[in-house]
Order: sequence, then C-alpha cells, then structure tokens
Amino acid sequence: MSETINTLPIDYIPASQALTNDIILVTGAGDGIGRVAALTYASHGATVILLGRTLAKLEAVYDDIENTGGPQPAIYPMNFEGATEKEYTDLCNALQSEFGGLSGILHNASELGDRMPIRDYANDTWARIMQVNANAPFMLTKALLPLLHSSPTGHASVIFTGSSVARQGRAYWGAYAASKAAQENLMQTLADELDGTSVRSNSINPGATRTAMRASAYPAEDPQTIKTPEQIMPLYLYLMDKKSIAINGQLFNAQ
Ligand SMILES: NC(=O)c1ccc[n+]([C@@H]2O[C@H](COP(=O)([O-])OP(=O)(O)OC[C@H]3O[C@@H](n4cnc5c(N)ncnc54)[C@H](OP(=O)(O)O)[C@@H]3O)[C@@H](O)[C@H]2O)c1
Repeated sequence: MSETINTLPIDYIPASQALTNDIILVTGAGDGIGRVAALTYASHGATVILLGRTLAKLEAVYDDIENTGGPQPAIYPMNFEGATEKEYTDLCNALQSEFGGLSGILHNASELGDRMPIRDYANDTWARIMQVNANAPFMLTKALLPLLHSSPTGHASVIFTGSSVARQGRAYWGAYAASKAAQENLMQTLADELDGTSVRSNSINPGATRTAMRASAYPAEDPQTIKTPEQIMPLYLYLMDKKSIAINGQLFNAQ
C-alpha cells in the first residue's frame, strides 16, 4: 500500500456545472453518503444512474433530483449479495444502449457485517460481506470497463470507498476491514493497469460521517459531533471533475 494519503487540494472550487455531459453510476445511491453524492453530482450537471437494493429509496432520490431540476436520472435496482456475472453483463448492455458510455463509477455501497472477534465471526457473514464490499466492486468494474473507455467526455473516473480500518486492521472489524483493504488494493491494481489511458482510479476514506452505518457501528456516539455527508462532498466532486484528470492510483481522506 502507498504510504501517501492525499486530501482535497485547498484551491479546488467546483464550477457550478462541472459535470455537464458526465454519466455517473453511484452504488448504494439510496441512502447515506451515496444518496448525497448522487444529488451532488446531479446538481453539478451529471446524469446519474442510481444503483441500490431498495427501490423505494432510489425512487425518492430520483424524485429529489427531478424536483431540483437536475438531468433526468436512471434507476437500476440490484442487490450485490447474490448478483451473478450475467446480471453485471445485463447492466453493461442496458447502459450501453441507453447512454453509449460512462464517465464515472462511485463504488459506495457496503455492508458493515458483525462487530466481533475473529474467533466468533460466522463464515457465512464473512462471505457475504466480502461478496458485497469486495467482489461486487471487482465484477462491476470489470463489466463496465468498456463503457468507461467510451466515456462521452473522453475521460472517466472510478472512485472506490475505503476506510481507516482498511489501512490498519482493528479488533472486531472482521470482514468489513478486510473487504475495504481489498477494495483499496483493487483500486491500486486497476490504476496501474489503466496508467496512460483515459480512465483513472482512486479511493476515498470518508472518515466519520453521519449515516445509518456509522450509527450502527457507534451507537453511543452523538451524531451531531460528526460531519454530514454534505460536508465531505467537495472531494467526491473533485475526483469526478476533469480537474483531477491526472490523478490516478491515489488514496484520499475526505476529512
Ligand atoms: N459513514 C461513515 O462514517 C463511513 C466511514 C468510513 C467508510 N464509510 C464507507 O462509506 C460508504 C457509504 O457508507 P454510509 O455510511 O453512507 O452507509 P449506509 O448509510 O449504510 O449506506 C450504504 C448504502 O449501500 C447500500 N447497500 C448495502 N448493501 C447493499 C447490497 N447488498 N447491494 C446493493 N446496495 C447495498 C445500502 O442500500 P439500502 O439503502 O437499501 O440499505 C445503502 O444505500 C460505505 O462504503 C462505507 O463503508 C463510511
């Protein structure tokens, strides 16, 4: 793993329509950070594909984007837990016929799994968390790579989502920590393979952020003491913006 952890350039100010003509797929777009990222990308001009497992949540985000005058989004319900290779191919074909190409993927969907010692960690929980948090981003990226190379803007950005426990494992974080380490390592492998192409790949560690997942991991914490998803959006915008076109293979902290 690289020792260098990057943060948002201090002089970055997104143009109001920085993502015009961008087509961006956001996973886990129905809630938490993914929901706010989808709204943020749309408010900067992107057409957003809302992927997640709970249709009602995706529909609510769709309505929010339409009501605020963003480009018409698309909804793609998908549960990563049992998704097969054919489902990823079907997704690629659907996006190909609807949009012709893709300029970004935000790999955001994840599950926390159990917080318990390895000696007690259930094998099936381990397998499920690795499937959703590590295998799904691999299969999704692999399936959609041809579309990223046909981006309507001529360049594309893949953002993976790490965690502080990805960079240093911690007691009781089990499969979640291992899956996040796998995701950041996949980001680096992909970035190395994409070096010199029009597609770049980086990862964001959001840091403590006020969402349902955070509340579930830290039930005693006062949510008012931590940042909202809205407050960490500048980095999410920067890595989709063409201003970050030369950035590839880097680990970022949003806080
Ligand atoms: N919040 C933090 O403090 C924090 C810190 C470090 C890293 N992160 C990372 O940031 C990302 C967003 O986290 P968050 O806090 O916003 O979490 P969240 O509020 O729990 O949202 C996670 C999203 O992922 C979706 N998802 C979960 N399992 C899925 C599956 N099997 N198939 C498809 N979609 C699935 C959820 O769908 P449903 O809405 O249908 O449940 C939800 O929309 C995650 O990768 C997380 O690991 C968060």
